[in-house]
Amino acid sequence: QAAEIELVIEADTPGATIHKNVYGQFVEHLGRGIYEGIWVGEGSDIPNTHGYRNDVLAALKELQVPLLRWPGGCFADQYHWRDGIGPRAERPRRVNTNWGGVIEDNAFGTHEFLNLAELLGADAYVNGNLGTGSPREMAEWVEYITADGGSTLAELRRRNGRAEPWRLHYFAIGNEAWGCGGNMRPAYYVDLYNRYASFVKAPEDNQPRMIASGGHGEMTEWTEAITSGVKPNWSLRLDGISHHYYTRPTGEWETKGPALGFDEAAWFATLRQTLQIEDYIAANKAVLARNDPDGKYGFYLDEWGTWYDPEEGENPGFLFQQNSLRDAIVAALNFNIFHEHADRVHMAVIAQMVNVLQAMILTDKEKMLLTPTYHAFHLYRPFQGATALPVRLSNAPDYRHGGDAIPGLSASAARDTSGNLQLALVNPDPNTARQVRVSVQGGEATRARGRVLTARAMDAHNTFGQPEAVRPGDYAVDAQDGEMKLELPPKSVMVVMME
Ligand code: AHR
Repeated sequence: QAAEIELVIEADTPGATIHKNVYGQFVEHLGRGIYEGIWVGEGSDIPNTHGYRNDVLAALKELQVPLLRWPGGCFADQYHWRDGIGPRAERPRRVNTNWGGVIEDNAFGTHEFLNLAELLGADAYVNGNLGTGSPREMAEWVEYITADGGSTLAELRRRNGRAEPWRLHYFAIGNEAWGCGGNMRPAYYVDLYNRYASFVKAPEDNQPRMIASGGHGEMTEWTEAITSGVKPNWSLRLDGISHHYYTRPTGEWETKGPALGFDEAAWFATLRQTLQIEDYIAANKAVLARNDPDGKYGFYLDEWGTWYDPEEGENPGFLFQQNSLRDAIVAALNFNIFHEHADRVHMAVIAQMVNVLQAMILTDKEKMLLTPTYHAFHLYRPFQGATALPVRLSNAPDYRHGGDAIPGLSASAARDTSGNLQLALVNPDPNTARQVRVSVQGGEATRARGRVLTARAMDAHNTFGQPEAVRPGDYAVDAQDGEMKLELPPKSVMVVMME
């Protein structure tokens, strides 16, 4: 019997607000992410509302998606927005050179994306084309979206069926400029940012937060170059720096490891890889603390998640992968880290929402399933906009494997927007349960109820034949004398709400 872990929630020491947008989602023109996954068109046999499939829409509404990023990714820097407006039959057909070389018929464009964001009540994040677009093209896209009044572009939007401007919450200048976005040096990108961003103009009450494309993984030089080389003034804005990190079991790009059928060594390696994001956040926060001591810029992890080897029989350029309990554990470990760094991490966007990489939802034509990652996001919904609270742990063991170790319990607490305390716990150990005694400093744990996500196998997952093999269950909390006793099963995620 392992010793009991003591956990104290410091409810009397409120920290930063956990921005709702750390639960953001990404939709790129990639594989079946948009086409089939979200958009089937009005004429489809799959039940749909204005072309969006009903089953996926309902699942996303239930998830309370706070933010949607589009159209890429790498695709953003080859996307010309005028291709995706006007009558669909007349839209040009292009080759998607990044993802599988398939034909992109542009059926899903600016209207389809921004209407979807509205339907979901999500903030709209549009990623501009720096790589192959001009400052004029970028400026006109933002004008088309946001202009009121009688400009030719506002009239064009009206003729295309949208009278009022849409609300545009975020706009990025390019994507992964160090790679698919143009293989640039940071200093060159900074000059381009200054030039392009100067011409992105929107009405004062609909001014998007402006995002510069930063580094990935351990890189800090992009954050350094952007924060020292961009000097915001009346004609130039900067609000956040984008940063990407993908978790691969091997840590390599050539062979990443399979999504299913892995052993404990791969389970452990994946969790250790994912936890590295904390070091990357800390290193970039140190640069920001020096160059932006007033905290004006957010650090936006706008692509994160697991990336495995392509599935047998799938187009490798479509990045379709299964999703198991391991992915849910990865997601929850990341959430707890984002909460810990809520003072700077004001956005995190998982890659990607449907059928691509660490997806919430998988589809096979008319069939749909919710992944373990969906359930992790669902469990954590109360953390959107909550106030982070410090957590003190004593007696917490490590999870050891193959001579290496990671922390054996991850915890995060917050006061949600209704005033209730929320506690999220992750037991990464696939073999051993954790006994946790919880007390609340500055309060009492009296009435509490929980939900827990776990399964027998490390790679337990949902299939179209068995779509509910992995799903959360209720957890009855033992609360007595102002304390709670919790038992976390091996390899589990638990969220407990205290009223
Ligand atoms: O999410 C898939 C791809 O990963 C994105 O298009 C790109 O930005 C990143 O390299």
